Amino acid sequence: MPNESVTRTEEIPRNRAACSTLMVTYVDAASAPLKNTGQIRLYGKDGFDGMRNAGQLTALCLDELTAMIRPGTTTAEIDRFVFEFGMDNGAVPATLNYRGYTRSCCTSINHVVCHGIPDDKPLREGDIVNIDVTYILDGWHGDSSRMYPVGGIKRSAERLIEVTYECLMRGIAAVRPGVKTGAIGHAIQTYAESQRCSVVRDFCGHGLGRLFHDMPNILHYGNPRDGVEMRKGMIFTIEPMINLGRPHVKVLSDGWTAVTRDRSLSAQCEHSIGVTDTGCEIFTTSPAGLDRPGFAA
Ligand code: MF3
Ligand code: CO
Ligand code: CO
Repeated sequence: MPNESVTRTEEIPRNRAACSTLMVTYVDAASAPLKNTGQIRLYGKDGFDGMRNAGQLTALCLDELTAMIRPGTTTAEIDRFVFEFGMDNGAVPATLNYRGYTRSCCTSINHVVCHGIPDDKPLREGDIVNIDVTYILDGWHGDSSRMYPVGGIKRSAERLIEVTYECLMRGIAAVRPGVKTGAIGHAIQTYAESQRCSVVRDFCGHGLGRLFHDMPNILHYGNPRDGVEMRKGMIFTIEPMINLGRPHVKVLSDGWTAVTRDRSLSAQCEHSIGVTDTGCEIFTTSPAGLDRPGFAA
């Protein structure tokens, strides 16, 4: 697809300023065609119900994966679980055959920023791994990711994971009708940098619903005066990628795996949310209360 605006996780041109606010228009999702028109869809009860169901299935999968994450497990085994859990529950992984991607999830270990491809390499004690799952259930996309420690991890790795989760939650706390999406990025960047971490610029959150990657882009850095005004009924992800070192990334020759250029450790946490009258609803909250990363003693 030629239009960058439908993509998220795909690169944002480096020199492009944060979204212009001049041209944006909003449209009732129920009556809009299911293609990218450049308008921002606003969803009603049906959309929120559908997203809650899809989001909860994704969150349940991420809960179930917790017990599997230990030294020796391969990311291919994780991928297989994600596929089968989806099938068993009437859902299809959205990443399967998405733009040439052939797996059911992304597994990003240590200095991998995002879009790590599951393979036969076993996880090792001390690794940190992000698992990013998107299920399509009844046509709705539930997109979420969490960080998992593999056995005991370094204190610096624990701290990075804690900072990244806090970034996600501070971004979510900035969501409210009448506020610009730039407030989300500003909250994330301010906190990350106060903790001497850096925010990856090359990937962003995205609108979603019946489409996987829709308008608008949600930047994880920037200024509260930038971006588009949030309105009740907007649905999007927030998914900050935070590095212990510098923010720069490169994509490996497989065309997907993004890594930190300085090979510093990177973490990511993602929720799918919908804007309400007073704030937002998180669709991908863990049924078991496992959203906040915990570490074994
Ligand atoms: N789930 C990712 C996101 O948060 C997208 C993965 S696309 C893939 O937007 F093709 F890399 F799987
Ligand atoms: Co996403
Ligand atoms: Co995701």
